[in-house]
Amino acid sequence: MRILVCGGSGYIGSHTCVVLAERGHDLVLADNFSNSSPVVLERLQAITGAPVAFRQVDLRDRAATFDLLAGGGFDAVLHFAALKAVGESCERPLDYFENNIGGTLHLLQAMQAAGVKRLVFSSSATVYGDPDRVPVREDAPLRVTNPYGRTKLVMEQLIGDLVATDPGFQAGVLRYFNPVGAHSSGLIGEDPSGPPNNLMPYICQVAVGRRPRLNVFGGDWPTVDGTGVRDYIHVVDLARAHADALDALVRDGRGFTVNLGTGQGVSVLQLVQAFERASGRPVPYDLVPRRAGDVAEVYADPALAQQLLGWRAQLDVDAMCRDAWRWQSMNPEGYGAG
Ligand code: NAD
Ligand code: UD1
Repeated sequence: MRILVCGGSGYIGSHTCVVLAERGHDLVLADNFSNSSPVVLERLQAITGAPVAFRQVDLRDRAATFDLLAGGGFDAVLHFAALKAVGESCERPLDYFENNIGGTLHLLQAMQAAGVKRLVFSSSATVYGDPDRVPVREDAPLRVTNPYGRTKLVMEQLIGDLVATDPGFQAGVLRYFNPVGAHSSGLIGEDPSGPPNNLMPYICQVAVGRRPRLNVFGGDWPTVDGTGVRDYIHVVDLARAHADALDALVRDGRGFTVNLGTGQGVSVLQLVQAFERASGRPVPYDLVPRRAGDVAEVYADPALAQQLLGWRAQLDVDAMCRDAWRWQSMNPEGYGAG
């Protein structure tokens, strides 16, 4: 297939491009580099052995987005392009609405104008908010707790409305749990700008000496060891799910909404210990009060993805830590020094 990958130079998009290229698809990446680096394109070329077709486009620019799609001959679009920092979304909600919802609207309009009718969309477990029970199934109530989450929910709804009016339009909505890890080459990985908000990149930066200690947010949660429990999923498993989702759209001719997680809950301290084992480096930490908006325990029921996509996660927490550490130790400053 000929595939447009919006947000293709970002963390999850870049890993997905590797899998798609390995499966023989013809790719065009598009990104505005608002949260990624052109260095990614060189790294992708080094991994795949072929030049990367790239267009620098901001999806907020309607005309540029139409131009991107027109005459591109695309069989499908993968849509990763979004702003994703929860805290920032609370400070600048309108920017999040404009970028995420506005950009998605332009993309859907441009797809419609160009007659492109297959979409794989990056949603998030954030749409479940604080779930009533775990593991979380796709039919759990949706209740978002911050502007970032609201953009994901609205985008899911926009896509659903389009599908309802155009039966030929097929959308695979993928609700990711907690993506971590990196490609086994160590050439691409997660490179947050500024202090990381998320646990694994913070652990990596402590281990590599960029930050002195980890703050563990809350030791009094009703969990196995008092720390928060999440469903960490290796980004390479996640990338493979996108290729499988495309295949499922083609094979079955209809869309779906599925969770992408391992189904295993892992606590903060369990992840820290696994990382110390994998890296051989200490990760000193302090137990500090809970972070506002956090929840005790969230992990997926991934059965529907297995049923509909034939996909299940294969890489365990040790592999996630090993590969995250390889990336961080080979690129202590991320892509900045590349
Ligand atoms: P990322 O920031 O690394 O990648 C997103 C890419 O989109 C970046 O390269 C950015 O420059 C680009 N982009 C943003 N706005 C754009 C615009 N208007 N026009 C063109 N390009 C634009 O993030 P990621 O971790 O790879 O996440 C990919 C997707 O998955 C996002 O939609 C995110 O919300 C979703 N998601 C991520 C996580 C996670 O923990 N990483 C979890 C659940 C869902
Ligand atoms: C984050 C996002 C959420 C998104 C999810 C998956 C926030 C507030 N929420 O949530 O919208 O859907 O990722 O990408 O960013 N922790 C520490 N110390 C740290 C960082 C985190 O103890 O420095 C703990 C947290 O309290 C939590 C766990 O580690 O228990 C995981 O945190 P994080 O990586 O931020 O993911 P989520 O909380 O799941």
